[in-house]
Amino acid sequence: MLDVAGRFPRHKLMFGPTPIEKLERLSAHLGGGVEIHAKREDCNSGLAFGGNKVRKLEYLVPEAIERNCDTLVTIGGVQSNHTRQVAAVAAKLGMKCRLVQESWVPFNDAVYDRVGNILMSRVLGAEVELVDEGFDIGIRESWERALEDVRAKGGKPYPIPAGASDHPLGGLGFAGFADEVREQEAELGFTFDYVVVCSVTGSTQAGMVVGFAADGRARNVIGIDASGTPEQTHAQILRIARNTADKVGLGTEITPDDVVLNPDYAYPAYGVPSEETNAAIRLCARLEGMMTDPVYEGKSMQGMIDLVAKSFFPSGSRILYAHLGGVPAINAYSYLYRNG
Ligand SMILES: Cc1ncc(COP(=O)(O)O)c(C=O)c1O
Repeated sequence: MLDVAGRFPRHKLMFGPTPIEKLERLSAHLGGGVEIHAKREDCNSGLAFGGNKVRKLEYLVPEAIERNCDTLVTIGGVQSNHTRQVAAVAAKLGMKCRLVQESWVPFNDAVYDRVGNILMSRVLGAEVELVDEGFDIGIRESWERALEDVRAKGGKPYPIPAGASDHPLGGLGFAGFADEVREQEAELGFTFDYVVVCSVTGSTQAGMVVGFAADGRARNVIGIDASGTPEQTHAQILRIARNTADKVGLGTEITPDDVVLNPDYAYPAYGVPSEETNAAIRLCARLEGMMTDPVYEGKSMQGMIDLVAKSFFPSGSRILYAHLGGVPAINAYSYLYRNG
């Protein structure tokens, strides 16, 4: 147990521990050789549909408050789930929110910049700036300009990088996720053999790698890349994991091999679903009533299904699929799903 929640300042934004649900019909459909469960981070909070960023932000908010910041400033793609969650958290805290939304996705649904996440961010009162720059999970000039602009206007910005990832506190939320899973495992009476997680900006998997390294399970965290730039994502996960390991006093080194990132399902590009991704989204929806999105969770669902079919997981394995949220973005892909 790392006891992340007990040892680091945390501002509660989630309902509590997220539920773990057995996906009976999906498990049976895939042959019954493995048991699939979902941990429902998509249902973690009442803050504008929640998702994985809310868990991370619980550990950043105390610092923003302590520093007397008045504006949360962050960045993402046009349909970023992260920026929507930051907008909701800012509203809840009574802070302002400044969002930079870059053109990370080559997808041209007519209302792509009007519906789903960006619609909610606007309704939540965030100041939204659209910037015509391509995909990159690194630190962006447009974001630094926005921070400067807030300062120039007399505000006190709190900088949150893309995905709340490349931030000294970004990995804590999902290191704590592992503590939470261990408590739930004790109640369930069994442990999970694998955790499947979608990765792009990296701190979700980085936190999990540290959290599960505490009981020797780092390599059982199977990352499914959705960035299409897996080398950059792998390097960022490793860097964040090492920083987080230091911060929590893990006591063992995180090695490159501890970060398992499968690059096979991100095609054709970040934010663009393949036919196989869409098939996985439909299958999961129709067997379990569980929605996934075309940018992130559809790809990790596709990856998990394919890895089960390829017998990657030994027979009898218990798999925990981390459902990280993201469904609001599906509205921006309405033409793709016009017939279901
Ligand atoms: C729904 C969803 N799944 C997965 C991810 C990937 O998480 P991370 O950026 O921490 O790698 C994100 C955010 O980027 C997301 O919004």
